[in-house]
Amino acid sequence: MLVVEGLVKRFGGFTAVNNVSFRVEPGEILGLIGPNGSGKSTIFNLLSGTLLPTAGSIKFDGREIAGLPPHRIINAGVGRTFQIPRPFRRLSLFENVALAGYFGQNRHSVAKANEAAERALGLVGLPADRAAKVDGLGAAGLKKLELAKALATGPKLLLADESLGGLDEKEMDQAADMLRRIRDELGITIIWVEHIMGVLMRVVDRVMVLDHGEKISEGLPAAVAADPRVIEVYLGSDAQAAQAVAAGRG
Ligand SMILES: Nc1ncnc2c1ncn2[C@@H]1O[C@H](COP(=O)(O)OP(=O)(O)O)[C@@H](O)[C@H]1O
Ligand SMILES: [Mg+2]
Repeated sequence: MLVVEGLVKRFGGFTAVNNVSFRVEPGEILGLIGPNGSGKSTIFNLLSGTLLPTAGSIKFDGREIAGLPPHRIINAGVGRTFQIPRPFRRLSLFENVALAGYFGQNRHSVAKANEAAERALGLVGLPADRAAKVDGLGAAGLKKLELAKALATGPKLLLADESLGGLDEKEMDQAADMLRRIRDELGITIIWVEHIMGVLMRVVDRVMVLDHGEKISEGLPAAVAADPRVIEVYLGSDAQAAQAVAAGRG
């Protein structure tokens, strides 16, 4: 579904993403992990058209999308969430999601956008009541709103950036289960970025690890959690927790 080859992003003299190549198969959940500043969000910004690549190719469904503007990439079926939610606070919850549906699906039909918003809000467990406000949503609620907006655009591939940030343990588990359900029930392929390994390892099919803009490991969760280069980057503790989780999954 996605074939990335030789992706490079430089900011001036600084290389944030250095010759990264990977593939995503239809229906899989690929985890993309790495310490803060390793280039995860930059890769999402390149995949979604928010940033122009310095070099490299991004093929989605066989078509080159590298360098296309964001709205074309969304219309082609690549949806994304943002690590830092910035909803329109003067619009209702429903309007925020319907707006994403209106522009994201390129149908420009208010009726279709409203339908998409209702479905998406139901899926993430937020009220589809049209009067509900954005104010008062906590960290977990704002993450759900990000997800609902991305789902309303009708993605085939969903890029989920740090869906667990600011959540407590129970909320993290629920968010992880939600991503799994989105894949299982809607058949949406997912790339899931996170800097915390543990919960992610329980849900993903495959993991890729970045460090300083380079891919240092890739494979099944248990193998990646046991990779000495990954353990070194994560200073042992988080990797051990991830190993335990990966070993315990059915
Ligand atoms: N627009 C930008 N201009 C300059 N440097 C940037 C920009 N965006 C990201 N960076 C740098 O690129 C590196 C990777 O950032 P990022 O992709 O956000 O990391 P991650 O999401 O893995 O925490 C960091 O050192 C960050 O400071
Ligand atoms: Mg990031």
